[in-house]
Amino acid sequence: MNYYLGIDVGTSGTKTLLIDAAGAVIAEADAEYPMHQPKPGWTEQDPEDWWKATVKTVRAVIKKSKVKPDQVKAIGLSGQMHGSVFLDKNDNVIRNALLWNDQRTSAECDEITAAAGGRKGLIKMVANPALTGFQAPKVLWLRNNEKRNFDKLAKVLLPKDDIRRRLTGGYVTEVSDASGTLFLDVVKRKWSTKLIGKLGLDADLLPEVVESDQVTGTLTAEAAKKLGLTTDCKVVGGAGDCAAGAVGNGVVKSGVLSTSIGTSGVMFVHSDQPQYDADGRLHTFCHAVNGKWHMMGVNLTSGGSLQWWVDSVLRGLAGVPDAKRYEAATAEAAAVVAGSDGLLFLPYLNGERTPHADPNARGSFVGMNLTHTRGHMTRSVMEGITFALRDSLEIITSMGVPVRQVRASGGGSKNPMWRQMQADVFGKKVTTLAVEQGPAFGVALLAAVGDGAYKSIEQACAATIKVADETKADRAAVKKYDQLFPIYRDLYGQLKESMGQLAKYQAS
Ligand code: XUL
Repeated sequence: MNYYLGIDVGTSGTKTLLIDAAGAVIAEADAEYPMHQPKPGWTEQDPEDWWKATVKTVRAVIKKSKVKPDQVKAIGLSGQMHGSVFLDKNDNVIRNALLWNDQRTSAECDEITAAAGGRKGLIKMVANPALTGFQAPKVLWLRNNEKRNFDKLAKVLLPKDDIRRRLTGGYVTEVSDASGTLFLDVVKRKWSTKLIGKLGLDADLLPEVVESDQVTGTLTAEAAKKLGLTTDCKVVGGAGDCAAGAVGNGVVKSGVLSTSIGTSGVMFVHSDQPQYDADGRLHTFCHAVNGKWHMMGVNLTSGGSLQWWVDSVLRGLAGVPDAKRYEAATAEAAAVVAGSDGLLFLPYLNGERTPHADPNARGSFVGMNLTHTRGHMTRSVMEGITFALRDSLEIITSMGVPVRQVRASGGGSKNPMWRQMQADVFGKKVTTLAVEQGPAFGVALLAAVGDGAYKSIEQACAATIKVADETKADRAAVKKYDQLFPIYRDLYGQLKESMGQLAKYQAS
């Protein structure tokens, strides 16, 4: 039997899993590491921590599974997107990597937009506007703020691709993660030498870019020894964590859309063509499916809003037992009618990306009166998170992208009440998978494709991924949410200015 490893270099830790060629998960392991916040709005990690976690989890998985090293035929890599690993000419890491949620690059985003001849010109070149989390503004930030470090810069890699460098010795990325740098011509699936030139950067700073299922090399003797594997083990392109998670959810063909409610919320849809929103509210990126694309909307504080509500506000209140606080809170919410009797919640607790791209957006409860209870407030938090996802769905459908089915994943898919709420807010059937494994599973499948176990990722998903549960929309609730959604959507515009004024009072 042949086996495949999937490694996901996440923000809180690395998850590694081993599957067999039929897609069964044989063993898994996690290792955590810290995220540094040297200043408000700055987020950084040490790439050495990612490497240590990779070695530790791969060794743990091989030990648990008892498979022989030469049975592990290929590795797929996934990871947090957009980050920047800065390397000098001797492959030394110059400084800590800046992460996807780092907000220090507003000035550089303006610089990029101006260099591209405005927002529309930029979207035409790379299918996306400049956002603070993306990689390109980070490179300019280094040039503008740490000149001595910039002068040493020989290569800039995405987080998972730095792990690839340490595994294979090569500088390679793949199209899905490369899309989130802002350097990729997403339509042509190759670097935009035009934009790179306009920014005054050298294209040699960037790695080679390939499709996600392509083999990018084999393990070096040193890496094979460290991991306990062989030098025959291949490393395939893999994918950024959103595309990898979508592959793991079987979202590899037109008509299926996935929602993922974790700390952040992601609405992800497959597209056979490269389509983009003229206003740049959605990200248009290459998919990990060879020659296909995807669009996605990202809410920065999705499940994170419920976590804030239950852990920081409700925790310790009478009648909410600590160990069962989520169960207790959502049971109270389930007893409240759809629409929370006119109470709405805006989940912008840490600014918002889709659709507002506003770091100053703030959370709010609107419409409260004396009849509202704790259960109403919990329900409206969950409804607000789901309405925020619907904002992305509305943009997707307005672009004419077909959406027949919504596949729910992450925390929001585990609770039957939240699955029903998603079906009702979206007005669509919601499905969930028998076993949900996330990005590491998606890239383990890409490794199996790269090794030839399947002809394509579509074939691998069809053979290994099974839908377990279907939730149909309730007509009365759909009607109620269809009436409330426009009210929710208008609130941001009405409150935007006040939110900006209030943000000035935030203690740093
Ligand atoms: C996607 C995004 C996050 C990171 C972190 O655009 O910013 O999902 O990939 O996981």
